[in-house]
Amino acid sequence: MSESSQRIPLVIGNWKMNTSLQTALSLARAAAEDAAAHPDVEVAVMPPSTWLVALATALGTDSAVQLGAQDIAPEPAGAYTGDIAAEMVAPYVRFILAGHSERRHIHGEDDTYVRAKVDAIFRVDRTPVLAVGETEQQRQAGQAEGVIAEQLEHALADRPVDQIRSLVIAYEPVWAIGTGQSASASDAQQMAQVIRDWIRGAYADAADRVRILYGGSVKADNASEFFASEDIDGGLIGGASLDAADFSEIIRAVGIT
Ligand code: PGA
Repeated sequence: MSESSQRIPLVIGNWKMNTSLQTALSLARAAAEDAAAHPDVEVAVMPPSTWLVALATALGTDSAVQLGAQDIAPEPAGAYTGDIAAEMVAPYVRFILAGHSERRHIHGEDDTYVRAKVDAIFRVDRTPVLAVGETEQQRQAGQAEGVIAEQLEHALADRPVDQIRSLVIAYEPVWAIGTGQSASASDAQQMAQVIRDWIRGAYADAADRVRILYGGSVKADNASEFFASEDIDGGLIGGASLDAADFSEIIRAVGIT
């Protein structure tokens, strides 16, 4: 059994600030059917938080698709207008995203804040999906690997190895998100390997367990290129997850690699 075959492939749809309740219900039901048809793949969707209760109720407890939250604030409660605590989404979700570049860049969230979010996710016993990625400028300056290592170091240093084993990391080059311009499969694999090597250096026992996803303009017609790579265990899918047929095709693509 190769090391990668011990990791269950994972596809997560990140709907961002999209969908009506009706669309959310229909996308989630479609994803549940796809997930049931591909028991070898783990599938999750991350709707806007306001839809979580309705989706959890509609899907029921034995649905094949899991739910995730797109973001949380680190604090458990308090005067944080507009924010939502990990405790508030935990009853409905298995995964919680932290460090997405749209939070880092649009909302100015720094590495310290991202670490605090990861702490909060572990506090409620859910699985963090830690997003890391370099900007185009950083890539052009040859800094991509250093930037990723720094983001990993900030979020993950000095943790119990059990936390690291359970983690999901999404490599999402900022210049590829929502632009239609994906990384090449070999660049994505190279960066996934950088991530796995970093983990091996810090937590040798966890390195082969951590699932690494690629995200950034993954579509139905390019998904299988990424998923064929040794260190890429699935995808974090934005735009294409809003189209049930495309998302279905992407789930199928990860299932056959
Ligand atoms: P995209 O988004 O697939 O639309 O590029 C990916 C993401 O932001 O997770």
